Amino acid sequence: MPVIIDKNRFVLETKSTAYVFDLAFGKFPLHRYYGKKGNEVDLARKGCAFSPYFSTYGYEFMPDVDLLEYSGFDSGDFRASSLKIKNKNGDRSTFLEYKSHRVFEGRQPIEGMPCAEADKDTVTLELLLADQADRCEVYLYYTIFYEEDIISRHAVVKNVGSDTLSIERVMSLTLDLPRCDLDMISLYGKHNMERMYQRSPLHHGLQRVFSRRGATSHQFNPLFALCGRDADNNQGEVYGFNLVYSGNFTDEVEVDQLDHTRVQIGINDENFCWQLAAGEAFATPEAVMTYTDKGIGQMSRNFHKFVLGRILPPCPFEKRPVVLNTWEAVYFNIDEDVLLNFAQEGVDVGIDMVVMDDGWFGERHDDHRALGDWFANKEKFKNGLKAFVDKVKAKGINFGIWIEPEMVNPDSDLYRAHPDWCLHAKGKERLVSRDQLVLDMGNPQVLDYLKASFAAAFDGIDIDYFKWDMNRHLSNVASVCLPADRQGEAAHRHILGVYDLMGWLKERYPNAMLENCSGGGGRYDLAMMKYSTMIWTSDNTHPNDRIKIQYSSMLGYPAYTMSCHVSNHNNICEDAKQLKFRFDVAVGGALGYEFHLPNASAQVKEQIKEQIKRYRLIESLIFSGDYYPVANPFEGSYSAYYYKGEGEILLSFLQHTPDDEREVVLKVDAAQEDALYTDVFGSGEYWGSQLKEGIKWHTENSNCNSNLWYFVKK
Ligand code: DGJ
Repeated sequence: MPVIIDKNRFVLETKSTAYVFDLAFGKFPLHRYYGKKGNEVDLARKGCAFSPYFSTYGYEFMPDVDLLEYSGFDSGDFRASSLKIKNKNGDRSTFLEYKSHRVFEGRQPIEGMPCAEADKDTVTLELLLADQADRCEVYLYYTIFYEEDIISRHAVVKNVGSDTLSIERVMSLTLDLPRCDLDMISLYGKHNMERMYQRSPLHHGLQRVFSRRGATSHQFNPLFALCGRDADNNQGEVYGFNLVYSGNFTDEVEVDQLDHTRVQIGINDENFCWQLAAGEAFATPEAVMTYTDKGIGQMSRNFHKFVLGRILPPCPFEKRPVVLNTWEAVYFNIDEDVLLNFAQEGVDVGIDMVVMDDGWFGERHDDHRALGDWFANKEKFKNGLKAFVDKVKAKGINFGIWIEPEMVNPDSDLYRAHPDWCLHAKGKERLVSRDQLVLDMGNPQVLDYLKASFAAAFDGIDIDYFKWDMNRHLSNVASVCLPADRQGEAAHRHILGVYDLMGWLKERYPNAMLENCSGGGGRYDLAMMKYSTMIWTSDNTHPNDRIKIQYSSMLGYPAYTMSCHVSNHNNICEDAKQLKFRFDVAVGGALGYEFHLPNASAQVKEQIKEQIKRYRLIESLIFSGDYYPVANPFEGSYSAYYYKGEGEILLSFLQHTPDDEREVVLKVDAAQEDALYTDVFGSGEYWGSQLKEGIKWHTENSNCNSNLWYFVKK
């Protein structure tokens, strides 16, 4: 049993890790250890300080300096709190004590929110804490995903009194570590350059990544790691964290006066306040954590296994379709003839799915109008959507379509009919972005309208794929459905509405796969992945940038989630070396094309045909092999990594910036020492011992330097 309870000690075990806490005085859950199984030591606080305590327990328990499992507010702990509640008296003093616990098989579902899937081996510890004075109970859930070395955490706050409480802050996870000799790795960015890798030593005070944008965002990602100063891809201690949520989040790491580190993950409290009436409960999203002493690469592999097994929905197709998307080729200039032409050209080179991007509905001829009007444009599709899709499918190719449900343009039938259905603050100008406003997804009428529109547009049509886009962040976040004292709920209610509609779409069209997208990779998070087979990694398809974006996405998300298209701006791919380079980069994930195939030369089409054939040989290795990062593109001019499967290895070298010509050695540490491998894409045979010593390659003072080696055991 992965939960061992001995008197006042709780031990949670995964395959390689242990997590330990004690109930001090039978009342206060104090953290004792999180690390390698078998190495458990009782970690205690490193001293005491200028801090309050309960006279009953004296210095034996001090909220400010002890390592806590979950902390209250204004009750002697001056570090950032896990829970802050305003009670009927108007004060916010919150203090939690242990009441009871239970251990059960499976997991506690989280109402209205996506969470990791449990199976027969999943076990959960529920710890009930309570603030007696406020009549508030807090259930802490620890769910153990044993094989993946993951423990997930979330909290449920229940009002068991008779007065309404306001929750002003509630974290999904708090972890106190009695050390601060760590680096923080986190992902920052912007539109077109998502998930840039940064690593810096922890300093005293608060370091934080977060979103106030109503979406996880391009600017920060909830995934982060704390690692030993000497940790690299292959060795060293690493704690990894993430959150299954798509809205405003906060990842906080606070180093205190005693060199302790407090980690907190949850909904960002900056624009959040939830009224909890008597008898009501509020559930946080699920946070996940992992630990390894085998380096950053092992942390990534733990997360990849978890996402593949517990998060992603099954793909409706046996093989992931290679997609041809029309966006970068023709933008809004689409109609039936254009699409049929793309479909035919796609079939000819071995493409599996043609995706009709933005521009098919209402008066959508550019990005200034029509979002919200979800019916096919009659001039572009003279006989309607169904007749058109039937023609596409008769060619022997699958069909996908673009939608952006959460948005409305002021120039749309929907907005003219319901100007109050968007998020807006009374008396304030409604700020547009890409000429659009955000629908209030917390408004049930909005959800009903969208469901009815999509049902009318898509029912009875054989659609294989939806690309769900989201192209602006939220501002003036207020809802006409909520009274003044509940406006602090609007952002979270919005996200719950998004999950509701996404769940509805998946249920209504079970044979269609969903690709998520938010101006590229602006919502690259575990909650979106619960609904999506993959996510459009970035609007930036330039391979030099993609090398970096894809490398750091792999830090916590598997290749399976990463939609990677070979694109052809300025017809650059007439050059065979360019086209090869773009392909080598794109096969880091799920291959697709963003390409004007009808305009491409016969030679280019032939090359694409060969690329798709080559991809078919390696796709299952990319999607189910173990990922090993070799060279970090943020630390030099190239990236290198390999996928390892049963008897096969795909090694990739990708240079993003011209460099001096010099030899590089790419070590394939996980090769089997005494096995003989053939390089199927090149020539030659290699012993595993040679691969371990390293494959030699050269950096170049030029662009497009890349290579793929596909080693198959003889
Ligand atoms: C942003 C997406 O990231 C693009 O791929 C494309 O779908 C456009 N939106 C369409 O408006």
